Amino acid sequence: MSGAAIEVENLVKVFQRRGQPALRAVDGLSFEVQRGSIFGLLGPNGAGKTTTLRVLTTLVRPTSGSVRIMGYDVARQPLEVRRRIGVVIQESAAELFLSVRDNLLTYARFHGRSGTEVARRAEEVMEQFGLTPEAARKAQDLSGGFRRRVQVAKMFMVETPIMFLDEFSTGMDPILKRAVMERLRGEAASGRTIVLTTQILSEAEELCDEILIVNRGRQIARGDLHALKMLSQGVYELSLTFDAMPPGVEEQLAARNPLRLRINGNTLEVALKEDERSVLGLVNELAQRAHVMRVEVSGASLEDIFVELTHEAEQKGS
Ligand SMILES: Nc1ncnc2c1ncn2[C@@H]1O[C@H](COP(=O)(O)OP(=O)(O)OP(=O)(O)O)[C@@H](O)[C@H]1O
Ligand SMILES: [Mg+2]
Repeated sequence: MSGAAIEVENLVKVFQRRGQPALRAVDGLSFEVQRGSIFGLLGPNGAGKTTTLRVLTTLVRPTSGSVRIMGYDVARQPLEVRRRIGVVIQESAAELFLSVRDNLLTYARFHGRSGTEVARRAEEVMEQFGLTPEAARKAQDLSGGFRRRVQVAKMFMVETPIMFLDEFSTGMDPILKRAVMERLRGEAASGRTIVLTTQILSEAEELCDEILIVNRGRQIARGDLHALKMLSQGVYELSLTFDAMPPGVEEQLAARNPLRLRINGNTLEVALKEDERSVLGLVNELAQRAHVMRVEVSGASLEDIFVELTHEAEQKGS
C-alpha cells in the first residue's frame, strides 16, 4: 500500500452562475496527504477550501481532475469513499431535530455500528465533550458552540481512516478547543489521517504536519511549517515595548510597507520583509528615541507568511 491516503490531481471545480461568468472555485489543485498525518488547508475567505473538502468527501462532483481516497475514486466509487471517511462540514437539517445522543448513535449506525458497545461509546464521548447534561436535548436547541461540539464528537464514534474537519474550532471555547486539538493529535498518532481547514493560523501551526495555502482556487504554497518559513526568509517579526511610545512611529513604520503593524498601548509589533541589518538598525534607532523595556526579534510566523504569500499572489493575479 502506498503512503498516501489521499491523492488529488489537477482538481477543478467550476460553478456556473446565472448572469455571471462561471466561477473556478478550485482551479487545478494537486496534492497528496500521507496516512497518519494532519493536513491543513489554509486560505482567505472564498479561497476554495470548503469546496475542496466537499469534492474530497463526495458531496459535490469535480468538474475535472481526479481524487482518490484510500485508492477509491470520489466520482466513480463514492460509496466506498464514504465508508472510509468522517466529515464535519455543516450540519444537515435532519441532524438538528435529533437529540445529542441520537446524533451520535445515528452517525455510528450510518457507519454500520450499533449495539451496546456503541451505546457505551456514545456516553463516553458525550462525557469527554461536556455534552452529558445535554444528551436528551435536540441539537437545534443548543448554542452554536455546543452544536459544533456534537459535530466533532461524532468523529470519535467510529474509526474511519480519514477525518475531514471544516473549521472545527468555530465557536468552541479555548479549553474545549485545546482538548479537541490534543485528541486530534492522538488520532493521527494512532494512524488516522486528518484534513482540516482553518482561518486560525496558530491552530494550523500547532497541529499540521503539512500545510497547503490556497487563494482563488490555486495553490500558492505548500509544505511543512519549516519549508513555508524558508519560503519566507527575510521576514522578521519585531516586538518592542517602550516606557512611552515615540511620537510618529506608526507613520514611520507604515512607510516601510510592513506585512503587519500593530500598536497596543506601549507595545509595537511589526513584521518586515527587510534584511537583518536594516531591522537591527531600526531597533537601534528606536532605542535612541525612547526607553525600550523589552525587545524581541524573531523569524516569520505563519501569519506573516500567509499575508506575504497571498499578497504576492494577488499582485501576480491582477
Ligand atoms: N454552490 C455554489 N455555487 C456557486 N458558487 C459557489 C458555491 N459554493 C461555493 N461557491 C463559490 O466558490 C468560491 C469558494 O468558496 P468556498 O466556500 O470553497 O471558500 P472557502 O475557502 O471555504 O471560504 P471561507 O473561508 O469563507 O469558508 C467562493 O467564491 C464561493 O462564493
Ligand atoms: Mg469555507
